[in-house]
Order: sequence, then structure tokens, then C-alpha cells
Amino acid sequence: MRLMKRLLEVPPKDWGRKVQAKLGLRQTDIPEVEDILSSHKHMRTQRHYDFLSRYEAILSANCPWEPIRFEGKRVIEMGSGPVLGWASMGVFLGCEEYFCVDPYFNPEILETPAYKDAYLLNVYKDLTALYGQRMTFEEFLSRMDERVVIVREVLLDSNLERKFDLALSNSCFEHVFPLEETVIRLHELTAPGGRFLHLVDFGNHQGTKSPFKGLYTVTPEERIAKHGRLVNLARGKDVLRIFKEAGFEAVLVPYCPFPEFYDETPIPYWTERYTAEELFLKTALIAGPVSG
Ligand SMILES: C[S@@+](CC[C@H](N)C(=O)[O-])C[C@H]1O[C@@H](n2cnc3c(N)ncnc32)[C@H](O)[C@@H]1O
Repeated sequence: MRLMKRLLEVPPKDWGRKVQAKLGLRQTDIPEVEDILSSHKHMRTQRHYDFLSRYEAILSANCPWEPIRFEGKRVIEMGSGPVLGWASMGVFLGCEEYFCVDPYFNPEILETPAYKDAYLLNVYKDLTALYGQRMTFEEFLSRMDERVVIVREVLLDSNLERKFDLALSNSCFEHVFPLEETVIRLHELTAPGGRFLHLVDFGNHQGTKSPFKGLYTVTPEERIAKHGRLVNLARGKDVLRIFKEAGFEAVLVPYCPFPEFYDETPIPYWTERYTAEELFLKTALIAGPVSG
């Protein structure tokens, strides 16, 4: 009965894919092009501009912070996602090169007319409205081709060598294993004085009313054994320590504490290590240095 209900809830076009996934015939971590193109979230043209301007506004309100400049910069974005994150903005604003590191990027999207002629065109129109017409659309597309480098493997497996002036990520580091080694590698790849801005999301990524549901009633090992390596469960202060120990001059700016709706009792593993404030911080910005 439950199986029938679940099947009824799945749109018919998805049945085949779900069955293939269950049978292990499909690499489920790589999103399908049609899912990306039909996602309001990913296709929202202003999404990445909105994120960056919001993060910079939060940083400016909480610590000394000068706006990030892309002009002439060599940029790396970790976990840039299915539509290449801030790459379009970086390229439009004159970066020299933009490396997108995402092991689950689906390159088929690049050949899809809807990506170039709809998504990128609308991003271009929006950026032109904000910053003026810096180039034609044709020029923008050829710069995307020339300047964006997609690295479809984890940072630790990549053979990147030249250093970056700017490192960005949006909701990536909570998914990274092993976190310490990856941050150390990122620091090795960061030019002296290089800037960074990373948004880390500490929730369970399950869309529950409390984003912390289920996280604190078991140890991280038990959670990972049950749910797989969806999130690494490092909390804000762990991520800050890892960045500092790697050599980054980092600050953590809390963004969105959310204790409301949490109705479980955390086990001592969590309460002995973290304050309530640390446990119920949903997102934070890890950033630095102030200018450059
Ligand atoms: C929550 S999504 C965010 C995507 C994008 N930044 C955005 O805001 O839409 C997390 C992204 O991190 C990527 N990812 C997961 N593990 C990673 C790793 N070890 N290194 C780099 N990217 C990773 C995933 O493929 C996914 O695209």
C-alpha cells in the first residue's frame, strides 16, 4: 500500500529513473539535464547575483568588508553546481579565468540550447542591466568558453597548480569529505592575500521544519552510517578552526540562527562539544581578508 502511494506521488516520467537508481543502473549524484532545466531554483537568472550581494551586505554589516572585484582575477569556485554558479558573473565582470570544481557537474547542459539561449542570455541581460553593456552577448558566450574551466573531480584529485586570487563557494563545504585535507589544499592553491567567501549550510538538507531534525540524536558516525555522506556534520566553529589551521585569515559571520521548531533532545556528544547557539546556527559565512 505504501509502495503504491509512493509510486502515485512520482510523476510518470520519473518512474523509470527511480527504478534504475534503485537497481544501481544510474549515477544519481549527477543531475539529469531535464531536471536542471525544469528547476525553478537553478533556472532563476538572478539567483547567484542575489546570493553574492546578500552575503556581501551581511559581511559589511558585521565586519570590515570591501566588495569583491572579479576584474583580472583568477577565481576558483568549489561546488559551483549544475549551472556553474558565479562563473557567468565573474566572466561578465572581467575575471581572467574561472575554475568550477564540481565532481557532479553534468557537461551535457553546455550543449543544450535552453542553457545558452535562455539561461545564459537572461543572466547576460540581468548583468547588463546592473553593470551596463560591457560586451555583446556573442562576446560574453565566447568569454564563457575561453575563461571557464570545469574540473569534474574533487580538489584533492585535481592537478591544479597555479594559484587563485579568489575562492568562492555556496553551500558546498558541508558536503566535502575529507574537509581538513581539502581546505589545506585550497590554501596551497590560494595566492598570498587571496580573498575567499564561503557560505556553509549546517542543516540536515532534508527540508524538515527544523533544519536540525535528526542531526543531534546520534553521533556523526551513526548519522553518516545511516544516511550516507550527504553532509560532514562539521559545525561552524569546526569549519572556522579548519580554515584557520590551514592558514586562512578567516572570520565566521553567523547568518540565520534557527532554534525554532526543534523538539528533540540532543545527546551528550553534541551538548558537551557545542553551545546551543553553535548547534542551531543554520548558515554562516566564512570569509577573508577584508580587501584586495
Ligand atoms: C547544495 S549544492 C550547491 C550548488 C551551487 N553552489 C548552488 O548554490 O546552486 C552542492 C554542490 O557541491 C557539489 N559537491 C559535492 N561534493 C563536492 C566536493 N567534494 N567538491 C566540490 N563540489 C562538491 C555538488 O555536486 C553540488 O553541485
